[in-house]
Amino acid sequence: MERPQGETFPQTVYHLKTAGGPPAVEIKNFNLWYGGTAQALFDITMSIEKGLVTALIGPSGCGKSTLLRCLNRMNDLIDGIRIEGRISIEGSDIYAPGADVIAIRKRMGMVFQKPNPFPMSIYENVAYPLRVDGIRDKALIDATVEQSLRGAALWEEVKDRLNESALGLSGGQQQRLCIARAIAGSPEVLLMDEPCSALDPIATAKIEELIDELRGQFTIVIVTHNMQQAGRVSDNTAFMYLGRLIEYGETATVFTRPLAQRTQDYITGRFG
Ligand SMILES: Nc1ncnc2c1ncn2[C@@H]1O[C@H](COP(=O)(O)OP(=O)(O)O)[C@@H](O)[C@H]1O
Ligand SMILES: [Mg+2]
Repeated sequence: MERPQGETFPQTVYHLKTAGGPPAVEIKNFNLWYGGTAQALFDITMSIEKGLVTALIGPSGCGKSTLLRCLNRMNDLIDGIRIEGRISIEGSDIYAPGADVIAIRKRMGMVFQKPNPFPMSIYENVAYPLRVDGIRDKALIDATVEQSLRGAALWEEVKDRLNESALGLSGGQQQRLCIARAIAGSPEVLLMDEPCSALDPIATAKIEELIDELRGQFTIVIVTHNMQQAGRVSDNTAFMYLGRLIEYGETATVFTRPLAQRTQDYITGRFG
C-alpha cells in the first residue's frame, strides 16, 4: 500500500463498552517489525474488554492478523521479527523474559480463516487439547467433547457420528468443529482471524449466532473484513490503517458516528 507522505495518524480511543471489571488484554505502546526495517505495527495501545466481542477492522495489509497473532505469540515462529512494548493477558506480561509460551498459547484459543480440522475423527479433534494435556479420564474427555460441541452449536448435527472423520463435514461444520476444539482447551480468549471468509452465507450466519452465544463466556477478538459482520457481532470495534490503531470505541458509535475521517471513509466504502 502506498504510504502518503507527511501524513499524521492521530489515534482516537473513546468510550468502550465494558462488562465491568478489568480488561482481559492490555496492549501498551506495541510496535512490530518484520525483518529489520519493515514496520507493521506502530505504537498500538488498546485494552480488550473481558467477556465481550472486539472486532478488528481495516483494509487488507493494515496489520489486523499481525496484531491478533501477537496476542498468542504466534508471530514468534517467524524469523527476524522484533517487537517493542507490552501485552498483558489477565494482568500477566506475555512477553516477559521467561514467559511460558506454550502456557500462553493454551490460554488463547485460535480459529483461522480456513477451517483446519485434524485428519482424525470428530471426537478426537475436540478431545485433542485434553490429550495434549495428558488427560486420560475417559468420562471427563467424553463430557468435555459433548459440552464443547454443544457450546459450538454442532452437537445435534454430529452426535451420532462422532467417530467419523472430521474431513467429511461441510466447511461450516468444520469451522464450528474448530471452535469446539478451541473451547475444549478452556481458553480465556478466543482469537478468530476472518473465521467466515471461506464460508457461504448460511454457514456464516451460524458462526455469527455462535459468537453471540459465546459472548460472556469468553473474551473474543475477531478480525473481519466484513463490516456488516463487525457491526452485527461485536461490542467494540477497532479500526486499523497502515499499522496504526486509528479509532477504537463502542461498535455502534464507530459505525454511526466515527470521529476520524479515515474511519468514515472506510466504513462508507470509499476505500478498502
Ligand atoms: N510473515 C510476514 N513477513 C513479512 N511481512 C509480513 C508477514 N506477514 C505480514 N506481513 C506484512 O505486514 C503487514 C500487515 O499484514 P497483515 O497483518 O497480514 O494485515 P491484515 O491482516 O490486516 O491484512 C503487511 O504489509 C504484510 O505484507
Ligand atoms: Mg489478515
